[in-house]
Amino acid sequence: MIVVLCANAGIDRTYEVDNFAVGHYHHPRHYRVAAGGKGINVARALRAFGARAVVTGFVGGLAAQFIQRQLLEAGLQPAFVPIGEESRVCINIIDVQSRAQTQVDEVGPLVTPSEVDVLRRRWPRLLAKANLAVISGSVPRGVPLDLYAELVELAHEAGKPVLLDARDDLLRRALPARPDLVKINIHELERVAGRPLIFPTGAREALKELVASGVGTAIVTAGRAGSLGVSAAGLELWAEPPEVPNLGAVGSGDAYLAGVAAAMAAGRGLEEQMRWGTAAGAANAMTLGACLFERTHVQECLPGVKVMSFAEAAGQQIQPAQGQMGLTAERSESSAEP
Ligand SMILES: Nc1ncnc2c1ncn2[C@@H]1O[C@H](COP(=O)(O)OP(=O)(O)OP(=O)(O)O)[C@@H](O)[C@H]1O
Ligand SMILES: [Mg+2]
Repeated sequence: MIVVLCANAGIDRTYEVDNFAVGHYHHPRHYRVAAGGKGINVARALRAFGARAVVTGFVGGLAAQFIQRQLLEAGLQPAFVPIGEESRVCINIIDVQSRAQTQVDEVGPLVTPSEVDVLRRRWPRLLAKANLAVISGSVPRGVPLDLYAELVELAHEAGKPVLLDARDDLLRRALPARPDLVKINIHELERVAGRPLIFPTGAREALKELVASGVGTAIVTAGRAGSLGVSAAGLELWAEPPEVPNLGAVGSGDAYLAGVAAAMAAGRGLEEQMRWGTAAGAANAMTLGACLFERTHVQECLPGVKVMSFAEAAGQQIQPAQGQMGLTAERSESSAEP
């Protein structure tokens, strides 16, 4: 059992409309409604590895019933803390002709201190039943930015490894608690390093700094270009995804983290963790939606994944990528599809 924190769970509504225009009336050609949030994506992706997951976080209002029902239908176990305010809805409007997207994300609920306390008390009880914990995504308003640091410490007390994917202050403040593994993307790594990074050389230095500060293993993903992992044990590994048709890579990072978590839960080392993660990231890119792929997609991708030492990869041609700090469009927290 893997316990996943999805503090900012919500509902993603995706509308496909013809000739979307401001100020006009539209009937969507198709629409989809799904429970969203990075942690929920991770939990969904875990299913493709046959791993069982319990998901906690905050949900409120009518959306709460929908989110919990969807998770149950997906074979996941919801264990959310009920809150007084309504969970957020994120709307993604896709113009059918241009494929341009318009995103409208609600700010989301305000969580009270006593609701946060309920989560603090629930976390150790969930950890007791789990082999490891995953914390992914942002937090709603009212949640202290030190929450992830506290939850990492509680995981250490319970003797359970904890994997983290967060950004900015939530990430920065969790680092002193020494998460066992951090998985972020190249843009997030630049922000935590506080400088632009050339991938992979500059990224490698920044990962080493994270490990020196107490993180067990630090992994950076850079989309199609691949990923790089550095561990406190001195491993430096490079993983390259197979070539797949790209139907949308939003959620590939969540899929990657799920692959890493599933491999770790199965007792595998960093090389296999990155292999499973890379296969899951590619499986997500080749399928529509965020983390809606099946086990067969992962099985299809696994043989094409290459994992090697960084030294070996540096001898070959690594496809360069640059984070372009400050210039990159932020990806929405919602798992809306491209
Ligand atoms: N187009 C693609 N083809 C094959 N593999 C991909 C593709 N895009 C991503 N991947 C794999 O998935 C991994 C994670 O992707 P990415 O770096 O985009 O994560 P991310 O930015 O954290 O995404 P998100 O936060 O939306 O989940 C990559 O390192 C790569 O291995
Ligand atoms: Mg990500």
